[in-house]
Amino acid sequence: MKLLIVNIHQLINVRTENVLLRGASLAVLPILEKAYLLIENGRIADYGLMELLPIEYSDSDIPLFDAKGASVLPSWCDSHTHLVFAASRESEFVDKLHGLSYAEIAAKGGGILNSANKLNDTSEELLYNLSWKRLKELSSLGTGAIEIKSGYGLTVEGELKMLRVIKQLKKDSPIPIKASFLAAHTYPIEFKQNHQAYIDLIINEMLPVIASENLADYIDVFCEEGFFNVVETTQVCEAGKSIGLIPKIHANQLSVSGGVEAGVALGALSVDHLESMNQKAIMELASSNTIGTLLPTAAYFLRLPFQPARELITAGCAIAIASDFNPGSSPSGNMNTVVSMSCIQLKMLPEEAINAATLNGAYAMGLEAELGSIMKGKIANLIFTKPIPSLAYIPYAFGSNLIDQVMIKGVFQ
Ligand code: NIG
Ligand code: FE
Repeated sequence: MKLLIVNIHQLINVRTENVLLRGASLAVLPILEKAYLLIENGRIADYGLMELLPIEYSDSDIPLFDAKGASVLPSWCDSHTHLVFAASRESEFVDKLHGLSYAEIAAKGGGILNSANKLNDTSEELLYNLSWKRLKELSSLGTGAIEIKSGYGLTVEGELKMLRVIKQLKKDSPIPIKASFLAAHTYPIEFKQNHQAYIDLIINEMLPVIASENLADYIDVFCEEGFFNVVETTQVCEAGKSIGLIPKIHANQLSVSGGVEAGVALGALSVDHLESMNQKAIMELASSNTIGTLLPTAAYFLRLPFQPARELITAGCAIAIASDFNPGSSPSGNMNTVVSMSCIQLKMLPEEAINAATLNGAYAMGLEAELGSIMKGKIANLIFTKPIPSLAYIPYAFGSNLIDQVMIKGVFQ
């Protein structure tokens, strides 16, 4: 099955090799003006300038699609979400408008514990149906690969239920999904005074089932004051590593928690959030292979300081951006908003934000061989824009829906 796409205004993020983008290279976004793209069996088979379109393509009976001046870019790779949850939490949003802080809401049993109560009362089937709907919506907004975490169960049954829902989504979804095990999201009330007992539950009751049913790719911990400290984070991640899970850590969201350094020491694929950074954490991250994943919509929704993207990029860090879609701190999984906000508030250049949301996002899920750029052999998960005057218009026109069509595995949705 072939499809020849012609008259593409700009073919964005065209590459002949894969490289994790850090520092200045993040601002280099290769573009072909007036291009064609050949899709074969759901993958990118060839591309080039219209004026160099091979005669054997144009004269053959390959089905033709005229992009009529649309720009085409790789789908968003959203490497950090909590898409599986039972219910929204807009009443806490109103509590916050009345002056309560995120930590205060968490301390009175709201926040993650609120989501955990609701999730444990929700059937696996309903949870799946709710999650499937959300996934469909995000896919229509241009997300072409996604990571999804557990962490709203906090019981053996609840965590495994979440991971089984994610596993079923993986089977049914046309877009690649990666699963992170995040039982270490917060301590359940009954373990507040006995952290080690909960960690033991994670290690002895949950991880063996995860290993035998192949339920996760990554191990995640919320490393934060009042949640999991560095020692606890390390213990949980080491146990996850022993069954083959790669660490991806919630670090430095509310304070300089030591999570970045712990993540780097553990060889984490990414450390995520990074609202609170100091020079030491920035330099450690810059000199590591760990990706710093910035979640600007979470900072926005919680009115936290935005992530210091410019300092991170100047120091030479590899940066991805992701939605953190969850009911408590980022009730939107719209990556178009994330890209805009990264430019508007984090002062990333349009090229940097698009690279961070595509190729580096793919790296932050171990999917760089399959997705994240326009490269021969990669899966044709693509965004076709409405006519736009320039690349910068994508983050500039925040709030406008600039997506005309999305393609998944070479098929328009
Ligand atoms: O990534 N920070 C920890 N976890 C989520 C929020 C979870 C919640 O409030 O439900 C986050 O922001
Ligand atoms: Fe998160």
